[in-house]
Amino acid sequence: MKIILNLIILILSISIVLINGDYLEYKKVHLVDQVSLSNGNTNYIFRGNEPKILVNGENYFAYEELIKCMVNNSLTTGVKLPPQFIIVDIKLIYGLKDEESDIELEQTFFNANPQFGEFGTNVTLGDLWDPNFLPEHDVKSWALNLSDWQHDNLPYRIPFYRNILNSENDLPLVLYIHCECGCDRTGEVFASYAMKYLGYSFKEAMEWDYSIAGRRIMINHQFAAQWYCYYLQVAEGMTIDCSAPPLFE
Ligand SMILES: *[C@@H]1O[C@H](CO)[C@@H](O)[C@H](O)[C@H]1NC(C)=O
Ligand SMILES: *[C@@H]1O[C@H](CO)[C@@H](O)[C@H](O)[C@H]1NC(C)=O
Ligand SMILES: *[C@@H]1O[C@H](CO)[C@@H](O)[C@H](O)[C@H]1NC(C)=O
Repeated sequence: MKIILNLIILILSISIVLINGDYLEYKKVHLVDQVSLSNGNTNYIFRGNEPKILVNGENYFAYEELIKCMVNNSLTTGVKLPPQFIIVDIKLIYGLKDEESDIELEQTFFNANPQFGEFGTNVTLGDLWDPNFLPEHDVKSWALNLSDWQHDNLPYRIPFYRNILNSENDLPLVLYIHCECGCDRTGEVFASYAMKYLGYSFKEAMEWDYSIAGRRIMINHQFAAQWYCYYLQVAEGMTIDCSAPPLFE
């Protein structure tokens, strides 16, 4: 019953997300973390939404606008980005037909301008299985083997992103991970990043996502991040509060 309800909520939310072809929004672009490397460079990780602008009825990759958003947002946290950096742009996708034009826009831009960085996609679906619905003992044993069954494999994915952030290159690197809205898929990934590396509880991570999206993130993405929270607890021995915020306020 619960699973059917979740599915209905999910289908409704996906249709809302996809009808909404998104353009770059300053309020979605946030500096999340930075690391100083031994070669003297600093690398940065940002979350955001689709880096696309509409000019005279045509869609373009919003390279300059994206840089402006990054520079402005990091200044609000007292961080001054270096004058030159490469971008590793990762678009979180569902793998649906509707997404192809935006993927092509980004791919075409980086193919034509490899000096600015590179582009890739990561399918990110979330989970349909509500961890709050299971007895605690089962939650623990399923969380332990999360990377065997979770589609998005956050136990692998989050350190994978962290490795990109830690990589030494000639120029500083900016890892830009986004989806269309910068809310749900992005919310799942960055909630997970913030729990693993920034000391957020699951509830705090959801509240952060909420403050950026202006609404709760889609339930499947919330479940995935919560499963990852339990994984951090039981598999990595992290002391972290994984209790969920109330689903509907
Ligand atoms: C960034 O800040 C500058 C100076 O305050 C402002 O003129 C510009 O509109 C801002 N750009 C964005 C994308 O917010
Ligand atoms: C995620 O994207 C990165 C960057 O393009 C790529 O190297 C990696 O193989 C992708 N991983 C998955 C699971 O799709
Ligand atoms: C994960 O653990 C659960 C509970 O111990 C077990 O029932 C399940 O078969 C395991 N799944 C995988 C894919 O290893």
